[in-house]
Amino acid sequence: MALLEVKDLKVYYPIKGGLLGRTVGYVKAVDGVSFTIEPGQTLGLVGESGSGKSTTGKAILGLAKITSGCILFEGKDITEVVRKYRSPYKKSVQMIFQDVYSSLNPRKRVLDIIAEPIRNFEKLSKAEERKRVDELLSIVGLSSENAKKYPFEFSGGQRQRIGVARAIALKPKLIVADEPVSALDLSVQAQVLNYLKDIQKELKLAYLFVSHDLGVVRHMCENLAIMHNSRFVEFGTRKDIYENPTHIYTKRLITAIPDINPLKRNDNNERRKLVSAEYEEKRNMFYRDGSQVYDLKQIKDTHYVALP
Ligand SMILES: Nc1ncnc2c1ncn2[C@@H]1O[C@H](COP(=O)(O)OP(=O)(O)OP(=O)(O)O)[C@@H](O)[C@H]1O
Ligand SMILES: [Mg+2]
Repeated sequence: MALLEVKDLKVYYPIKGGLLGRTVGYVKAVDGVSFTIEPGQTLGLVGESGSGKSTTGKAILGLAKITSGCILFEGKDITEVVRKYRSPYKKSVQMIFQDVYSSLNPRKRVLDIIAEPIRNFEKLSKAEERKRVDELLSIVGLSSENAKKYPFEFSGGQRQRIGVARAIALKPKLIVADEPVSALDLSVQAQVLNYLKDIQKELKLAYLFVSHDLGVVRHMCENLAIMHNSRFVEFGTRKDIYENPTHIYTKRLITAIPDINPLKRNDNNERRKLVSAEYEEKRNMFYRDGSQVYDLKQIKDTHYVALP
């Protein structure tokens, strides 16, 4: 059974206007996406800014109101309870936030930040709680003295690891990791990605891994969903997406990955120019009325592409 199944999810934000603040229209942030995540697996969700990635992740955690569609977790429909504060589902699913600095309360010590989810769900003595927090800090490579400090006393990479420690505090089954490394230096990025992979093995975690960069998610994900204009333009295994990208938008994202080998950079620039030209030429074949993404069609057992 899939761990998470999302069916035809739509999230529309109302646009208010006029003197009376009436709803004059909707921003269709997510407009009909479906996917499953198996236990212990990683699904990458990749696309440009504003394509609806964070909103998809937030809807799964009940942080964005679902307009229609449904969410099943371990086979149970949790669409109705997802916004309730203390449903058991909330213990199993956690989020690492895109903007980690603003998601950590600046007036709280690391001990209280990491212990907060534990306090919501479990009754531990002060000593037991402290022991748990120390264990969590050590999993993410921070020493226990850090528990007394405040978020501003850390570097970006260290803060990200505090966010990770809090997310794994309740031993969840699924973590929505929203751009967990995009604010970090390349060297620290690799470090945090490795932590996330190690923790995954240890806790048998599944991830929905959100990124705008196909380069970053390459070694993290078994499956990938490519999102554009609030919908999926392509869905497949890592092999399908990297070796046989089929939607014109996916092709363009693939050629945007910088080549580490300087000798190949010129080739890559050439390829990028070719794909850009192809994008301009064929764009209308891949979108209805210039921007609407078609429904996904299965082109191989695991590979789906939005085609007319
Ligand atoms: N709370 C909100 N109220 C109204 N509109 C919103 C809200 N949150 C997001 N949107 C809009 O929904 C769309 C999708 O936003 P979302 O944050 O999901 O994009 P994203 O793919 O995560 O982008 P980024 O890569 O920049 O983080 C955008 O047009 C955004 O302006
Ligand atoms: Mg986002």
